Amino acid sequence: MIRVYTCLFFVTFSCAVVASPPVGETFGHLKSGEEASIYTLTSEAGLMVRVTDFGATLVELYAPDASGTIDDVVLGFDDVSGYESEDNQYFGCTTGRVCNRIANARFTLNGKEYKLAANDGVNHLHGGATRSLDKVLWKAEPFETDTQQGVAFSYSSPDGEEGYPGNLIIRTTYSLMRQTNELQIDYLATTDVPTPVNLTNHAYFNLSGAGSETVLEHVLQLNADRYTPSDDTLIPTGEIAPVADTPLDFREPHVIGDRIQELVDTAALGYDHNFVLNEPAGDSSIRLAAVLTDPRSGRRLTIRTSQPAIQLYSGNFLKGQKGKGERSYPLRSALCLETQFSPDSVNQPKFPSIVLKPDQEWRAHTMLTFSAVPR
Ligand code: GLA
Repeated sequence: MIRVYTCLFFVTFSCAVVASPPVGETFGHLKSGEEASIYTLTSEAGLMVRVTDFGATLVELYAPDASGTIDDVVLGFDDVSGYESEDNQYFGCTTGRVCNRIANARFTLNGKEYKLAANDGVNHLHGGATRSLDKVLWKAEPFETDTQQGVAFSYSSPDGEEGYPGNLIIRTTYSLMRQTNELQIDYLATTDVPTPVNLTNHAYFNLSGAGSETVLEHVLQLNADRYTPSDDTLIPTGEIAPVADTPLDFREPHVIGDRIQELVDTAALGYDHNFVLNEPAGDSSIRLAAVLTDPRSGRRLTIRTSQPAIQLYSGNFLKGQKGKGERSYPLRSALCLETQFSPDSVNQPKFPSIVLKPDQEWRAHTMLTFSAVPR
């Protein structure tokens, strides 16, 4: 399968980039019988991206290495049945309505308590058990401009879905830049009553190519002086602590595997921590979040975002499941860098609010830029 896409990529480039919006192709059928579609985005600069309307999910992301060889650097499945299976651990999806954890699966808003699914012990994780954003079919609108090719996915989540108040209209837009190696992900949400919103993308990266053994040799730098310590169910204690003198100090580039061992016997089982990003420079609303480099291939991913925090998750629950092209995904064979608001913000008065009101728009913007450094 992977080889087929590689050929497709080169054919597309040898004929120059097609100047029309991406066209949906079948991505298989859901258990409900509905058909999922997949869209291919290409750039002149060297990236190729495939996204599906199931979960508004990033399925493939081909990026060039130091010698120009492209490989798919995100985990995923060959068709939608994989995404509906037990093997899918939020691979590449739009995660929400509220990503990450909500303590005791409940929150109180304007004096009323709302109960959510407890799908992570007693806590609520990634928007719920059955109708979270990763498990539903979104409406796709492919587009093309002079500078980008993309797909805007939208989904209307009805009042009460997964226990959340309000009719929430959500849009996730993937835009691949034509001339630069950059994929932008934009989120927009509106509601008719106050409701918490926290959207992220849950891509699992391995810059050596999805299905390579581990990411322990990847080098990570995070633009974060502080993190949110958490209890033994990964709910923040409310404290915001310095990363200095901890294995979470990625202020200078560090090899992931260097200090992960110190965290293996903790509740996180490795890296599964939320970092508070340093403020953006000047008047910009966009801040540098992370720089991830794979010394083996030379591929480098730089993440910039409007979001205030980022979850570093080192694939601690990956179990060797079979993914795209029959490649398997063992423990720590990928990592996630989830730009977000801090976990459990809806119950944490000291964290920035995630409550969206009817007269507001919830917007977030994340840019993934790929480059290659000499090996
Ligand atoms: C997030 C969480 C992890 C885990 C993964 C999905 O990153 O923080 O604990 O639940 O998602 O497996």
